[in-house]
Amino acid sequence: MRVLGIETSCDETAAAVVENGRVALSDVVSTQIDIHRRWGGVIPELASRNHVLQVMPVIDEALTRAGVKLTDLDGLGVTSGPGLQGALLVGLQVAKSISLATGLPLVGVNHLEGHLLAIRLAPDAPEPPFLGLVVSGGHTTLYEVPAFGTYKKLGSTRDDAAGEAYDKVAKLLGLPYPGGLPIDQLAATGDPKAISFPRALKQNDVLDWSFSGLKTAVLNHLQQHGVPTGQALADLCASFQEAVADALTKKVMLGAKKVRARQLVLCGGVAANSRLRSLAQERADDAGIKLYLPPKRLCTDNGAMIAVAGHEALQRGVRSQLSLDADPSWRLGS
Ligand code: KG4
Ligand code: ZN
Repeated sequence: MRVLGIETSCDETAAAVVENGRVALSDVVSTQIDIHRRWGGVIPELASRNHVLQVMPVIDEALTRAGVKLTDLDGLGVTSGPGLQGALLVGLQVAKSISLATGLPLVGVNHLEGHLLAIRLAPDAPEPPFLGLVVSGGHTTLYEVPAFGTYKKLGSTRDDAAGEAYDKVAKLLGLPYPGGLPIDQLAATGDPKAISFPRALKQNDVLDWSFSGLKTAVLNHLQQHGVPTGQALADLCASFQEAVADALTKKVMLGAKKVRARQLVLCGGVAANSRLRSLAQERADDAGIKLYLPPKRLCTDNGAMIAVAGHEALQRGVRSQLSLDADPSWRLGS
């Protein structure tokens, strides 16, 4: 079964052809980062306009690279939420048009389900049940996944997403948007113990996160000491990164203990973070849990993960009608 996945929920226009929900025959991502960078964040109207320009060439390229025509496909998966309304509508209209013209079955995919299932494209991928941490620019949520299509929320951020904290701190430091990778790179030569940043919600019976206090702690530090350069900048980045990775992995391990999980998946843009990956590995090993880390390019937004989630839904008989609409605040699971 070959599924075309289309993703336009934020600032990447992406399309991919995936075979049997496991193998990406193509995976094309056209990023708008350079367009939004000068504004320090995503401008929704600019995102929609650029999706309109990019979506057809990106789909064409995905089909060409996979060596298939629309008539060789068996289904379509398209992100229908959560995300920016105008951006989502672009992918949706194209997917619905293709479905109408070809008769291909269509399914609206939750972007977070796409992130959770991106690991299916790795050679070593878990079958449910597993625990999945979605940690991205818009979300930080821990899910129990007893079966494909069933998602139980165990905990979530009460304010900023982890990626949002990265992006806001990077802005304070004068680093480019999105701030995750530049901070990660600077942190590589820094001392994570140089500054003691706070960990919020430390109680063992709370599975949620809060990152706004950490952001304020960085701001206070900068107000007292000025914006650092050189080694002091690297030390600040490493200390901030340690606080985020420590908080994320501690709560994930608490969740894993609570539901007796044996398998854990990290996904979403922040799952590309080097310290989060190494600390999660350390703590998963200590707890005897098998950790699955998607390759970094599958952590950030892409069309292949949407095709995988589309494949699983289509296999279960889920179909969307042409009345399918964007749902900007679609919550995954219960
Ligand atoms: O999943 P994603 O591409 O888009 C959303 O669905 O939000 O995630 C983007 C987020 C941004 O906040 C970016 O700063 C962060 O992922 N990110 C990272 C790294 N690479 C990307 N955060 C920390 N370390 C990284 N290496
Ligand atoms: Zn995403």
